[in-house]
Amino acid sequence: MHIDDFFEQHAGQSLSYDDLILLPGFVDFSIDAVDLTSRLTREISLNIPIVSSPMDTVSEADLAIALALQGGMGFLHYNMSPEDQGKQAVRVKRYQNGVIFEPITLPPTATIEEVITIRREQGYSTIPITHDGSPHGRFLGLITKYDYSTFTPAYKGQTVADRMMSAEHVTTANFEELVDAGGELDLVQANERLLDSHSAALPIVERSGVLRYLITRSDLDKHEQYPNAAVDRSQGLLVGAAVETWSEKAHERLEILGDTVDVIVFDTSQGHTSYALDLIRWAKRHYPELQVMGGNVVTEDACEALISAGADAIRVGMGSGSICTTQEVGGIGRGQATAVYACVRACARAGVPVVADGGIAKSADIVKALSLGAGTVMLGSLLACTDEAPGRYQIKDGIRLKRYRGMGSVAAMAEGSASRYGLQQSLRVPEGVEGTVPSRGRVAEWIPCLLQGVRQGLHKLGHRSLEQLYDRVKNGTVQVEKRSEAAKAEGRVHDLYSVGTERVEYISRSDNSVHDKSGRERHGALV
Ligand code: IMP
Repeated sequence: MHIDDFFEQHAGQSLSYDDLILLPGFVDFSIDAVDLTSRLTREISLNIPIVSSPMDTVSEADLAIALALQGGMGFLHYNMSPEDQGKQAVRVKRYQNGVIFEPITLPPTATIEEVITIRREQGYSTIPITHDGSPHGRFLGLITKYDYSTFTPAYKGQTVADRMMSAEHVTTANFEELVDAGGELDLVQANERLLDSHSAALPIVERSGVLRYLITRSDLDKHEQYPNAAVDRSQGLLVGAAVETWSEKAHERLEILGDTVDVIVFDTSQGHTSYALDLIRWAKRHYPELQVMGGNVVTEDACEALISAGADAIRVGMGSGSICTTQEVGGIGRGQATAVYACVRACARAGVPVVADGGIAKSADIVKALSLGAGTVMLGSLLACTDEAPGRYQIKDGIRLKRYRGMGSVAAMAEGSASRYGLQQSLRVPEGVEGTVPSRGRVAEWIPCLLQGVRQGLHKLGHRSLEQLYDRVKNGTVQVEKRSEAAKAEGRVHDLYSVGTERVEYISRSDNSVHDKSGRERHGALV
């Protein structure tokens, strides 16, 4: 049945992803040809349709970096001070730069100990030296990890001037020779110069001797390693951040984050409020460059209100998260499939993408969310289980587990997130629980597995790209049916005496042999 007819027939029912099944379409292309480029906000596209939930057991800088390198984007949570959130955002942005516009610099009087501290705390081992230590002072030289040893205490007290390679011995590039017709640095040419120089870094210096930019070999290598990374115009990784809908706090955070992050999300479990609308208007007025996401909402009215206030994306979901008790506490929410479908209808009229947030437990749910018209999905539990999520693993019954908690759980609210639930008073009924999730390894291993499942689904549906899929959603030709309880049971593995647990195997492309995750050779098909 066509998707519009289906939801018309099921009006008044709250359906979840599991209630639906998609019907296959005609296929005339290979799985590899499926393009997952997706729309996150009015102005930002991602290379994969996945963003992380701003939760304190999911999204900090490490996860945001790992996810952006795969082509998605992380949203930093706000259970931390605005300063710490700002530092994390800068870490993500600076992780991979095409051009380092504001390099970390030191004056010649700095000590080697200071250099070692920067290397340890911020990870930079090549530091330009300028006459006054400012990023655009007169270029005097370069200090790298080859100019000292951390094992030799005698170096620590020496100054940078004692150890640096001075400007006349450093290969530099002339800024004026590298600008394109539009007055911007020509990055392709600059990178060619870097390769020609055989150096780890190339300072780009104006004729007047002033340091302008720095480009480095390690950034170039990262581009080669992660060609799908989600980057901004300067090749910095995309990053988002959550901000509370409490105006004083929101203003304070935006003052720090406003010029660094690409997207902010006003993070509240009920986004259809006068506070949220006022803040969206305020943010769009004061930070016109910033993309602003509103939510969480589940109704068409709420979407329209947020969009008319200026929202660039709408986060949809209430009561569907794996750790969520909102529906049980207040009897409020909506089945996630119905919520996404209804909100997409309201948002599509204004060209605003929907972020389907919560309730995604497997790749099939992502395929269904996209088929209902969502631009991206926001994941909590499916990312809390990765190495890069905050927290350490614990072992229970031989299984590696990570802690995962709702932002409305007692422990998370005690650390700041009570405002997400409008709970500033002393008596609070939690709307979330704490638990654990089993390890899925590194983001770089897990996300490709999840996406391969999504590609396989889209391929069987006959969609080459999400753009093609959305055209079909718009003209109502995506075909969907409701699953009976018997159909759900039939759709899972059934009637076997025992079941193997392996759901993923990797085939090495070169020799077509099959390997498991640890690289051991296996026999069988890719499942
Ligand atoms: P999951 O991907 O199903 O684990 O859901 C994650 C989503 O649940 C988040 O993005 C939030 O929208 C929502 N959420 C986070 N914490 C809580 C909570 O404590 N109660 C209710 N919903 C929550």
